[in-house]
Amino acid sequence: MKKQLFLLILLANGISFSQAQRKTFAQRADSVLKLMTLDEKVGQLNQYSGDWAHTGPITKDGDKQTQLRNGQLGSMLNVMGVQHTREIQEMAMQSRLKIPLLFGQDVIHGFRTTFPIPLGQAASWDITAIELAERIAGTEAAASGIHWTFSPMVDIARDARWGRVMEGSGEDTYLGSLIAAARVRGFQGKGIGNTDAVMACVKHYAAYGAAVGGRDYNSVDMSLNTLWQYYLPPFKAAVDAGVGSVMNSFNTLNGIPATANIYLVKDILKKQWKFDGIVVSDWGSVGGIIRHGYAATYKEAAMDAILAGCDMDMESRAYKDHLAKLVKEGKVPLKLVDESVKRILIKKFELGLFDDPYKFSNEAREEAQKNVPAHMAAARDLSRKSIVLLKNENHLLPLSAQIKTVAMIGPFAKAVKDNLGFWSMEWPDDSLTIVTQWDGIKNALGRNTEMLYAKGCNINDTDTSGFAEAMEVAAKADVVIMSVGEARDMSGEAKSRSNLHLPGMQEALIKAVHSTGKKIVLMINAGRPLVFDKAAAQADAILYTWWLGSQAGNAIGDVLTGAYNPSGKLPISFPRTEGQSPIYYNHLNTGHAAASDTINFYVTGYIDLRNSPAYPFGYGLSYTGFSYGDIKLNKTTINSSGKLVADISVTNTGNADGEETVQLYIRDLAASVSRPVKELKKFQKIFFKKGETKTVSFTLTVEDLKFYNDQLKYVAEPGDFKLFIGTNSDNVKETDFKLIK
Ligand code: GLC
Repeated sequence: MKKQLFLLILLANGISFSQAQRKTFAQRADSVLKLMTLDEKVGQLNQYSGDWAHTGPITKDGDKQTQLRNGQLGSMLNVMGVQHTREIQEMAMQSRLKIPLLFGQDVIHGFRTTFPIPLGQAASWDITAIELAERIAGTEAAASGIHWTFSPMVDIARDARWGRVMEGSGEDTYLGSLIAAARVRGFQGKGIGNTDAVMACVKHYAAYGAAVGGRDYNSVDMSLNTLWQYYLPPFKAAVDAGVGSVMNSFNTLNGIPATANIYLVKDILKKQWKFDGIVVSDWGSVGGIIRHGYAATYKEAAMDAILAGCDMDMESRAYKDHLAKLVKEGKVPLKLVDESVKRILIKKFELGLFDDPYKFSNEAREEAQKNVPAHMAAARDLSRKSIVLLKNENHLLPLSAQIKTVAMIGPFAKAVKDNLGFWSMEWPDDSLTIVTQWDGIKNALGRNTEMLYAKGCNINDTDTSGFAEAMEVAAKADVVIMSVGEARDMSGEAKSRSNLHLPGMQEALIKAVHSTGKKIVLMINAGRPLVFDKAAAQADAILYTWWLGSQAGNAIGDVLTGAYNPSGKLPISFPRTEGQSPIYYNHLNTGHAAASDTINFYVTGYIDLRNSPAYPFGYGLSYTGFSYGDIKLNKTTINSSGKLVADISVTNTGNADGEETVQLYIRDLAASVSRPVKELKKFQKIFFKKGETKTVSFTLTVEDLKFYNDQLKYVAEPGDFKLFIGTNSDNVKETDFKLIK
């Protein structure tokens, strides 16, 4: 009765219910904390992987269950399913204080329903569809006993050699920040504690994507200006969206391991951004502080990490083995441990686990989340929006209804699980739907079209014995569809590649099929930008299909037949060769800018290669065409309180309805730090009926002109600006405006 009265009084005073709830959770956490021994407190900061699947070197098993019953574990990961999570939760409930476990999982692009890899989703530029995908993933995961997903990964990435580029949203900070917030909203839904929501975890904090040489886990060295301008904003967007947790990254940042980085965690994340959720290490990254040469022992590493605000130690056992001693020796204040434990307990209260540890262990709810038609429909929608049309010579696509025979050739034509990409869930049963490319295309083309098949070659070996059959099959067809690319496990964690070409004999296969003279539609399956200039010259049409997930075949079928007009735009620049990496559109002008995209001396560039990427950021074709009028500004001068309205008319000039992502970039011509030649500031994805013209309007304020100056102050400086609007970062109309005091 007292509690209800307390809450009624708060409500009467207009204090938001959530503040009252939060206060209650904190009070309830304090009441548990008071009862805990030091060992039990350290136990809450300890996280182990289950025995199902692991994403890192799994620790000695067997002793986990004893530790569970002794309350020496606060969380587990890689335990999936209502039955397994319940079993393990029951062990934790045998502990003295019955503190429930948190179950975490890498739900990166879907749980039961697999959506395109995140980089592919970013190519849709459809923030609403991306949020829906995470809403569905959160619902499916929560129904399977998962409380916590280690997602979204928001690492800005400019180097395609880095395997984890597949896991993020590409090179742009503005697009990446919008997607980061959308993913957090999707996962956490109406709030953690609902049985269709999971706590999100923004990662990897921070700047992991800038690993030198694109080599995973490598050092990161950058100015604080670059860190704040390009790499931190997506994390801030996630924090502002209410993300419940943050994961340290593996790398050092300017010589200090992120897991021990007081500046990153205590100063920026907690003090400046007021983040009060959980900070969890990456797998073994507390122990990694030794390997970085920053701590001499595990004990020192444990001290460095807890002092830097890392609450939970994933799989290094440094906290379990050394934290209590550090407290007893006075090297770590008990207060710090209490604060970390309290943050973890509060989340467990928010999730409702103290009230009902089995709240997420409902078998019927789990069963109901398998192969849900509405989820599959959402996956098909996002998958086809993620496909990027890179080339379409003589409008080969969409495939003409007159085509009677189609040859499908390549190692991915009939592949099944490859369509899921890296970081997809591995289910023991095969009860889940995966529509292969073969099946999807066959269904889409219908009974009147004869489909021929030849694998042609394997993904990555030297066998060319399948070429003859492939050429025979091609010769019998009206058009050839080739499905090539890298294997699903050639991108992702620990999958950096120095060579970005199509692996194995795939390029030779394309050349051989091309020699038959047949028209080729080339579909490239990959978790990153690949280098395929020779193949591109031999193909009449090119679709970049990333890894599209459960509905891959249907999405591809929809695009090939024109049931859906492709609208994807690249969220990352495609290098002409590995030698161009890292390459990104929002580069500085330098003092020797090349005047044109030709090889010149004494300019920023190479003596053996043009500067431009193979395909620029924001690039993607349509089955129709779009023409852009001139930009019209409501004024050419704004002050700090002004609004600049930029209008442009866009016309669908072709014979098909379609969507166009109209992109707005700016350039600050002279500032107290050099500013990039272009920065994406707004975009609108708009549907146009064929022949339709629309005026697309954008409004900019001084907020859109701000940047971090050399004192790391977020400022806008008076001066001249260029404003660009167009179909990609390299094809724009431009105008000028001025910011005055
Ligand atoms: C991995 C990844 C991280 C993931 C964690 C748990 O090593 O770096 O992204 O969430 O371990 O699987």
